[in-house]
Amino acid sequence: MLTVDLSYLGNYEKKVGNGYFERIKKAHEVLENKSGKGNDFLGWLELANEMKAHLPEIKRVATKLSSQSHVVLVIGIGGSYLGAKAAYEALTPHFKNAIDTEIIFAGHQISGEYMQDLKDYLKDKDFSINVISKSGTTTEPALAFRFFKTLLEERYGKANAKDRIVATTDKEKGALRYLANQEGYDSFVIADDVGGRYSVLSPVGLLPIAAAGIDIEAMLDGAIKARETFNSREKSNPVYQYVAARNALYDSGKNVELFIHYEPKMAFIAEWWKQLFGESEGKENKGIYPSSAGFTTDLHSLGQYIQEGERHLFETVVSIKKPKEDFKIPKTADDLDGLNYLSDLSVDTINKQAMQGTLLAHMDGGAPSILLEIDEMNAFSFGYLVYFFELSCALSGYLLDVNPFDQPGVEAYKKNMFALLEKPGFEAETKAIKKRLK
Ligand code: PA5
Repeated sequence: MLTVDLSYLGNYEKKVGNGYFERIKKAHEVLENKSGKGNDFLGWLELANEMKAHLPEIKRVATKLSSQSHVVLVIGIGGSYLGAKAAYEALTPHFKNAIDTEIIFAGHQISGEYMQDLKDYLKDKDFSINVISKSGTTTEPALAFRFFKTLLEERYGKANAKDRIVATTDKEKGALRYLANQEGYDSFVIADDVGGRYSVLSPVGLLPIAAAGIDIEAMLDGAIKARETFNSREKSNPVYQYVAARNALYDSGKNVELFIHYEPKMAFIAEWWKQLFGESEGKENKGIYPSSAGFTTDLHSLGQYIQEGERHLFETVVSIKKPKEDFKIPKTADDLDGLNYLSDLSVDTINKQAMQGTLLAHMDGGAPSILLEIDEMNAFSFGYLVYFFELSCALSGYLLDVNPFDQPGVEAYKKNMFALLEKPGFEAETKAIKKRLK
């Protein structure tokens, strides 16, 4: 289902010594016996199993949302957005004409232009809203929700609009919970012990993913299978292989990891992965900087830097062995474009040769790669991959000796923004920050 190939590490392969596997095994024990840092945020370990009981309700509400709407607006940011977006992009057609209900994401930035364009797009379309915020107080989704809730109420009347809104939030805390209770919206709870970036397999991700018509049961099955498979304490465990390799590379001065894919539908899996690793590892002046590139597109933009720029990069290449679609290149009688040498080859064969050539070129240039291969991309393998990366991330965090489940640094910009906006309660900060402005 998922294999890790370290043969493109070049000279770095010998750095992946046994010491790493011993440390990873210990970290795994600490994680499973819940004695490590952030041990009150380990709900993701058994999340897929636990969610099975909630499937009928999630599916019922998802069907309600999608059957009454051309568009389901999913409002959230960070961990309350990226997982659902990743699944939606990876598992539905590039061009959405073919699908019944479109999922559109909002509240993941503060752009008036985006909100106005979306409002115009929704003009002649039925829509519903799933607003998602664990804290229930995050500014970006709260602003978008105020805007689109007003639009919904103007369109359908307050009483009917209520039936088109579902809130996913904390069981008791936060403004969104208060609002949902006051207004009587359908709602789902995000468990206390599941952090935002580990929440895609909770109602945070499952509801919008189900509303898009994706098989969420298969997704949970994939994660459950991954939990069984990666529970091994053997060196051959793919999670151990990946964690050992990326930490050995980091210790050898490679402090930037590029998530590489050759399938544009995976672009948002890369975004989800960046949040997972960036927020989990990047603290106490430590951590690999997670970045990404989509090949072959970015070989024509970033390729030069990767091949010959500063040698602080490594790649984690995620390749799908069997693509969903493939077809042969047609032969032409005149061969005016000189491509007949490729005729009878499939598009995927050419893509895979591009990957093979790039893996070797980058290894030769001093940018080593960890190659992760998955059989195919579907709901099951998406769930499987999610758990693979979540576990890898948690173990990597423990190897770095940081808490992989908190994100204290995210508060710094919020504090300044609230001070500048003169939010009540931030009077002292407002005074202080104003002195710093010209
Ligand atoms: O991983 C995290 O915890 C964060 O990225 C959050 O998901 C993000 O800040 C959104 O928070 P909330 O769901 O509370 O609105």
